[in-house]
Amino acid sequence: MNYDDFADLYDHQYGVYRDDLHFYAGVAERAGGPVLEVGAGTGRVTAFLARRGVPVVGLEPSARMIERGRARAQEEGLDLTFVQGGAQDFALEERFALVIAPFNALMHLYTPNEQLAALENLRAHLRPGGALAFDLYVPRYGEMNTVRHEGETFYGQGGSRTDVFLVQRHDRPRQHVTTEYHADTTAPDGTLRRRHYTLTQRYYTRFEMEWLLRHAGFEAPRVTGSFQGGPLTDASEVMVFQTRRRD
Ligand SMILES: C[S@@+](CC[C@H](N)C(=O)[O-])C[C@H]1O[C@@H](n2cnc3c(N)ncnc32)[C@H](O)[C@@H]1O
Repeated sequence: MNYDDFADLYDHQYGVYRDDLHFYAGVAERAGGPVLEVGAGTGRVTAFLARRGVPVVGLEPSARMIERGRARAQEEGLDLTFVQGGAQDFALEERFALVIAPFNALMHLYTPNEQLAALENLRAHLRPGGALAFDLYVPRYGEMNTVRHEGETFYGQGGSRTDVFLVQRHDRPRQHVTTEYHADTTAPDGTLRRRHYTLTQRYYTRFEMEWLLRHAGFEAPRVTGSFQGGPLTDASEVMVFQTRRRD
């Protein structure tokens, strides 16, 4: 999954999402050592940690997302390191006290082979007893095969307006949900530019992920249904996993 096409819109869409920030700052501060963020994107979480003095490396496959992350770091005078690569095959010499994968980053691993390779690789980059924390959407989506506008309208500095419409398709046997985004930007003179992006997420059930973690050499995870530690219930929107490397 290549996020290059999303890089321009990503911060407009998700820059305001803050639900997870204090959770990841808390686990990072408790880890007491260097942190690796997998699927760091444009540095939304990475920068939040760095502002608190946490030493953090952001791993991200998309060159354009990294470009944005580096620009953010420069603007804010933050010392951020981004490395280009994917969870399943990156190789760094450093060993980390904590690996995090916020905001569904692991939903871009599509097959059991990719998922296991990634988790085993994350484990290999942890110090003995090191921790792993990540969150995933609970698989629940809106109306399929229907064009929707979910309130995403952004106003550009030059007076332009961008409306994002989406259509989702569900491939149940593969546990894939594919979202087609149509971003329509209307300039002040009325001309319209239409962009189209496709994003496929591979969703997990709670126990599927628990078994994957155990198989990849992690302890049985603590699973919660919120970033505040509440239980996973029917109403939960996220599944938050916390585990440790089994030695
Ligand atoms: C929803 S974004 C989350 C970005 C960031 N963590 C945040 O919270 O804003 C998912 C990120 O995972 C990255 N990604 C996609 N495939 C990946 C892979 N195989 N390994 C690691 N990251 C991946 C994407 O490029 C994207 O930046």
